[in-house]
Formats: sequence, structure tokens, C-alpha cells
Amino acid sequence: MIIKEAKFVISNTKVSLCPTPDKPEYAFIGRSNVGKSSLINMLMEQKGLAKTSSSPGKTQLINHFIVNDEWFLVDLPGYGYAKVSKGSRDEWRKMINYYFLKRENLTCVFVLIDSRHKPLKQDLDFIDYIGKLGIPFAIIFTKTDKQSATKTDANIAAYRRSLRETWDELPPIFQSSSTSREGRDEILAYIEEINTS
Ligand code: GTP
Ligand code: MG
Repeated sequence: MIIKEAKFVISNTKVSLCPTPDKPEYAFIGRSNVGKSSLINMLMEQKGLAKTSSSPGKTQLINHFIVNDEWFLVDLPGYGYAKVSKGSRDEWRKMINYYFLKRENLTCVFVLIDSRHKPLKQDLDFIDYIGKLGIPFAIIFTKTDKQSATKTDANIAAYRRSLRETWDELPPIFQSSSTSREGRDEILAYIEEINTS
């Protein structure tokens, strides 16, 4: 897919204030600092489009972008940041749960996982949750530039084994790096395939 135009639309905490759901929507989620906003900027080839930060918890709102006037891309706040209070965690859960349940044009959720780690309970629990909601999702293993391909492959294989304990069928799995641009063509081709099917 060629990205002709990607524009910020609106940020908010309320699904009722999100843009009219008249186009397919793709959301990016994962632990804080996993690289969601960086990946969005890499996919859209616009450095400052989604706000990034080296300290976790940068993205706090539901951020909508419109791509090629054809589909929405959504940058969601991350989960699992230890320093967040229980109150904020509950707020996050409520907001995200409501978004997943009510956003009728939600087409696919990309769950981002740091490729440097062995399976983490937080990520497995999140996949379990989203899978049980019946929302179509795919997994993207991020930051592959940070280690050898052998290490990445071993971690992904371990995730596959963990997921097979619960799920008969595994979701589509991608790898990405916002610095080397690995994964860009594959992820955009996947979105295009869904949009045109
Ligand atoms: P929150 O919004 O806080 O949940 O974080 P996020 O998931 O949006 O992460 P963000 O894109 O802000 O990136 C977090 C940090 O990781 C930043 O310092 C990025 O520069 C760095 N980073 C993100 N993706 C990559 C990558 O693919 N490779 C490398 N080397 N660094 C990355
Ligand atoms: Mg972010």
C-alpha cells in the first residue's frame, strides 16, 4: 500500500467522541514503551505524527489518524507500566474495554510485543482477553533491531508454544523495527488485503 496521506484527527477518552465509524479501523496496543507510536510513525513515514517518548506511559488517550481518506489508524495507551496507580489502571481498563466493545468499525487490533522478551504473563493475559472478546487481532514483535535474529526467532517460537496451550489457531504474526523499517511492507499489505476483501 502506498501512503498518500496520514493525518491526525482527534484524541479523547470517550468512544462517543471518536470519529464517525464509517471506515475500517486498525488499532495498535501493547505494553507501555513497546514501540506503538514509533511503529505508527514508521508505517506512515512521518516522524512526529504519533507522540513517542523513552519514558513509558506517553500515550494516554485514544488517538485517531486517518490514512488515505480510507481507513482509521488508532494509537492506544499501553498497559503494564508498574508505576501507574491502581486507579489509573482501572480507568485504562474501563476505557479500553469500552472501546473494544463499542467501536463498531474496529477491524483488527495489532498487539505489539517486545521481541527481546520470553513470554510475559501481561502479554499472554491481554491476548487471552482480546481473543475471548472475539476481536480479530494480529501480533507484531517489535524492536527486532535490538538483538540477533536468532534471539528474536527463539522468543517468537516460545510465544507460539505458549499461545498453542490456549488457542488451536494462531493469529497472523509479524516482526517490526522502527529503525530498520522491518515489517513495514508486510503490515501495510495485510491491512490492504483486509480493506479490499
Ligand atoms: P507508550 O505510549 O508510553 O505506551 O509507549 P509506546 O509503545 O508508544 O512506545 P514509543 O513508540 O513511544 O517508544 C518507546 C521507546 O522505544 C522510544 O525511546 C523509542 O525510540 C524506542 N523504540 C520504539 N520502537 C523501536 C524500535 O523498533 N527499535 C529501537 N531501537 N527503539 C525503538
Ligand atoms: Mg505511545
